[in-house]
Amino acid sequence: MELPFAESWRIKMVEPIRMSTQQEREQWIREAHYNVFQLKAEQVYIDLLTDSGTGAMSDRQWAAMMMGDESYAGARSYYNMRDTIERITGFPIVIPTHQGRAAENVLFSALVHEGDVVPGNSHFDTTKGHIESRKAAAVDCTIAEARDTQLEHPFKGNVDVARLEEVIQANAGRIPFIIVTITNNTAGGQPVSMENLRQVREVADRYGLRVLFDSARFAENAYFIKTREEGYADRTIKEIVREMFSLADGMTMSAKKDAIVNMGGFIATRHEDWAEGARRYSVPFEGYLTYGGMNGRDMEALAVGLDENTEFDNLNTRIHQVQYLASKLDEYGIPYQRPAGGHAIFVDASLILSKVPKEEFPAQTLTVELYREAGIRGCEIGYILADRDPVTRENRFNGLDLLRLAIPRRTYTDNHMDVIAAALKNIYDRRESITHGFRITWEAPLMRHFTVKLEPAD
Ligand code: F0G
Repeated sequence: MELPFAESWRIKMVEPIRMSTQQEREQWIREAHYNVFQLKAEQVYIDLLTDSGTGAMSDRQWAAMMMGDESYAGARSYYNMRDTIERITGFPIVIPTHQGRAAENVLFSALVHEGDVVPGNSHFDTTKGHIESRKAAAVDCTIAEARDTQLEHPFKGNVDVARLEEVIQANAGRIPFIIVTITNNTAGGQPVSMENLRQVREVADRYGLRVLFDSARFAENAYFIKTREEGYADRTIKEIVREMFSLADGMTMSAKKDAIVNMGGFIATRHEDWAEGARRYSVPFEGYLTYGGMNGRDMEALAVGLDENTEFDNLNTRIHQVQYLASKLDEYGIPYQRPAGGHAIFVDASLILSKVPKEEFPAQTLTVELYREAGIRGCEIGYILADRDPVTRENRFNGLDLLRLAIPRRTYTDNHMDVIAAALKNIYDRRESITHGFRITWEAPLMRHFTVKLEPAD
């Protein structure tokens, strides 16, 4: 008999969690104005709000924390982290920041100016925010296949290179860099192929442009290249990662994802002029150049986390779990962005709650239903997150309306995945009876989804 698949780690420490009653959840979600960001974490049984900063560190990471050098300047921990990042990515210059969006803030302060255009595949919200707040435009050139959740494509995160070239030609002289997000979070944690990264590089070189990787989940991207792209099956993750970054000029990193730390980030590059620009903003925004908002101990844990998570076994365990959840949803016929991505399942709410009008936010409705059903907290990646058009102030209903179930790294077991799938099945079975969603009673002018207040629309 062939042995079944099992995790490449065992558990040394546990944290109790508690299932609440339906009655408790009804009250809590009402008090939270039907916005799961407003719940207390203790009111949640299985927390799939994000995979960011929610992973379980290894014994080696915890051990490394004891070795943190908390010197203000020139700490040994900084140099350990810098050396590891250079070994893994090939970038010799490393500027720490407290998280990914801070890396964007620091680097974009130097590079992005009013009237600029930054093309790429789907920009993450904070990336887009840091471009738009500088009165520049983020132009999404993701391949059209990403918009059809039921279409199978191995690299749905890819850049449409023809469209990229059109945008470059139409905006000559106004492009500070091209940005490629690996994996493409917004499109469903979908990977970008090495071939596509190479094509982007080729276009950039032809127009004399630079390429920045938003690298939050670069290791998961490398895993998909190894397992899906021809010619990479026998290459190690670390070899693939080096090849990926050889095609970029620099990276911004949210270390809360693929470096498996609770907080941290950095900018890395091979260009002194980018580094010089970033250093100007790093000191006033983040802190001195060898800590940039991070503790010495956190830089130690980051270095170990990066090293561990660029090994196949660790990534294989992780992606297997996401695919396991996907296989349960397949069994129940529940539609999601296909194939399953690296860090999350994106359930297609528009195909499930088809009776809920889009003005009443189907994906948000599904998010609330899942919480009511089993205390599971997912996250709407849909019409509420899309905000209003900055000019017309109309809701933007032109994108996908999804419920994201982000799976923290090394945190939950496959039994939890079974509970998630069963809860979704229960909702799926009664989907025809759900005919109303929510209306907004209060919203912030920008990034409303964190604080929006809602009430039932019926
Ligand atoms: N880039 C990508 C692709 C991200 O997914 C995120 C964060 C960031 C940048 C910003 O990094 O949070 O460290 O400041 N994504 C989280 C998520 C919040 O839930 O997807 P950060």
